[in-house]
Parts: sequence; C-alpha cells; structure tokens
Amino acid sequence: MKAILNKEIQKYINANLTTDLHSLLLKKSPFPEVSMQEIVQQIKGKKVAQKKFPYLLKEGIVFPPNLNLEQASSQATAEFKAQSLKGKSFIDMTSGFGIDAYFLSQNFEEVTLVEQNSDLLKIVKHNWTILDREANFINENLENFLKQNGQTYDSVYLDPARRDEHKNKKFLLEDLSPNLLEIQNQLLEISDRIIIKLSPLIDISYLISALKNVVEIHIIAVRNEVKELLVFVHSKKDKSQTTITCINLESEEEFFSFNYEEEKSAESEFSEPLRYLYIPNNAVLKSGGFNSISVKFNLKKIHPNSHFYTSDELVEDFPGRVLKVEIIDSKQIRKGEKFNIISKNYPLTPDEIKKKYKILDGGNDYLIFSQTQKNKIILKSV
Ligand SMILES: C[S@@+](CC[C@H](N)C(=O)[O-])C[C@H]1O[C@@H](n2cnc3c(N)ncnc32)[C@H](O)[C@@H]1O
Repeated sequence: MKAILNKEIQKYINANLTTDLHSLLLKKSPFPEVSMQEIVQQIKGKKVAQKKFPYLLKEGIVFPPNLNLEQASSQATAEFKAQSLKGKSFIDMTSGFGIDAYFLSQNFEEVTLVEQNSDLLKIVKHNWTILDREANFINENLENFLKQNGQTYDSVYLDPARRDEHKNKKFLLEDLSPNLLEIQNQLLEISDRIIIKLSPLIDISYLISALKNVVEIHIIAVRNEVKELLVFVHSKKDKSQTTITCINLESEEEFFSFNYEEEKSAESEFSEPLRYLYIPNNAVLKSGGFNSISVKFNLKKIHPNSHFYTSDELVEDFPGRVLKVEIIDSKQIRKGEKFNIISKNYPLTPDEIKKKYKILDGGNDYLIFSQTQKNKIILKSV
C-alpha cells in the first residue's frame, strides 16, 4: 500500500484518470514497485469516488478492489442515514470500505469498526488517518467478536454482504453474511438500537416476521431509484408499532410514513379518473402502503391492481408524480407524436403501444394506458 502512495505514482494515476483502462493494462508499469493492475485499481477507485463518494477525492486516499467499491454505500445515502444518529458509542460490525461508518459515526465519541477482511480494514485504517478520524479497528469475524465482546453500544450498525450476488431465488436473510437470524439475540443484548441496511429486493412483510422487534423501516431512493432498506430494531417494541417511511433523496418530494399494521385495515375508495392523476414514487411502490397513501391524501384509486390515484382538487406534497389529465380516445393519437408512455395493468407494453400507434418516445407530454374498474383507458397529460 505504501508504494502506491509514492508521489510520482500518484501523479501518474491522476494523469491517467481519463485514459482507456484496457489499453493501460496492456502496458508495462513504469514503476518497478507497483504493477499496472494496482495502478488501474486506484484509477477505477477514483472514478467511482467522483460519483459515489466524492469526499474521498483527496491526496493520500487508497482504494480497495472493485467488489468492495461496489458493496460500499454512497455518500448521499450515508449522509442521510447519519442525520438522526448520535450518542456515546457506535459500532459498525460490517465496516467494509467504511463509507457508512464514516458518516454514521460522526456524532459519537467512541467508534468501533469490525471487518473480517484484513487487507480492506488496513486500507480503511489508513484512509481514516488521512481523514483525521479515530476508531478502534477490529479485524475479526463478527461471530468471534460477539463471543469475546463484553461491551454495550448506543448504536449498532450492520450492512451484511450477499453470500452469492448471482443467486437467482427468493431473497432470504440466511443468504447474508453475517446471518442476522443467528445473531439477533446477541445483538439485542449489547444494544437498544440496531440499524441494518438491506437490499431493496427483500420482502418487507417477510422481514418484519423474520426479525424481532422491527420498529421502523426506511425505504431510501435516490432520484426515484430505490437503493436500500434501513431497518431499525429496538430492544423494546409495542405490538403494532412498525412505521414505514418512504424517502426519495435528491428530489423535491416529501417523505411519506405509515403504520405497517394499520395499512392492513385501511381501505381505498375507487373512482374513474378525475382531473388529476397521481403516480407514487418507487419508494412508496416498494413500501406497499397503497391504502394508507389513499387515506392520507384523500385520493381515490382507479383500480385495485394499478397504483394510480386520482382527485378533482390538486393535492400538494404527494410523494410522486402528479399530472393533470384527460381521458382520450385512441383515435385522437396522431402518428409521429412524442410522448412519455406509461402502461400499467394494460395488455400492451410501452414498446407495443409505440408500434401500434406509430408514436415516439420523449417530449413533455404523457400518455398513460391502464384500466379502471369499468374499462380500459388512455389518459393524456394536459
Ligand atoms: C456490504 S459490505 C459493507 C459496506 C459498508 N457499509 C460501506 O459503506 O462501505 C459488507 C462487509 O461485511 C463484511 N462481513 C461479512 N460477513 C462478516 C462477518 N461475519 N464478520 C465480519 N465482517 C463480515 C464483508 O467482508 C464486507 O466487507
């Protein structure tokens, strides 16, 4: 690691940030002490950092292999998660490249990072010195750490890794390392507040039934792409007290929270499309709060299976897209016109619709193909 920090080598890395990496890999390293692979890895790291964690674009920072860069959280989500966290002691039990740990531990006095991969932890330790941050770095398998640990912590954070990224089956907690089901009792013994980051692919109702004492779940999207689920497990929980909050970062949209148990008894009313159409953002769609959102914003649904809502009066602060619409007849669609096409609960896909009506993608107007409880419909934004 020391060699890569050599001034000349760093200069070479910075001078090659836009060079084609395949052709660079075919060249011989100009420095006997480091290979071209090592140099290219640092270039890749800096490129990822430009978008994903710009706070690491600093002299002296070292980047790990691709897998660790991919597994790391983004600065945007880590900063958001850090907002409500503070206390005396914080432990990140799956530190990885330490992006989450860096932000989440900001408002704690004592910080501990556990990571089983020693090369990775060495890099994090080095970087934290550059960043002027202190922590206890523990290179240990979490299961062993828990056996030996006699301390309690104000907040425990975990971001488990998928054992097999390409397993194409139902996403279960057993597929993660560490296996949360095996350690959850031990975790609850050492902290009142456990925070777990999980993939958005995991099913929320499964999560609530498999894990003990889930009090809150945050569904975090960035610009409408759902990035992660953040699960809060507390040592004490009232029955029926699970709040789900949908968050769309880097958008103007408000957060939307609902009670998981109340969703089951909430009921939506239905209506044919009125003047405004509401399309929930992807965090809300992931949450399954389809009745709660209808009740909270006093909106009617147009069909049980298509999550489109409608009202005559404009409702502000809806977490998603709001369009003023009119129902049109298919004969009104003119060849060659440009539309953003949305098709939900309708027999044709957007591509098939484009072909059928000879229309193009793009422009500012929307065409929405769906069905109500009575008929198939086409809505056009006005
Ligand atoms: C998804 S990454 C964490 C990324 C991190 N949150 C970040 O922002 O950089 C998960 C990490 O947990 C570590 N890990 C997995 N199972 C572990 C275990 N049983 N004990 C200790 N570390 C473990 C992996 O080596 C990996 O680096």
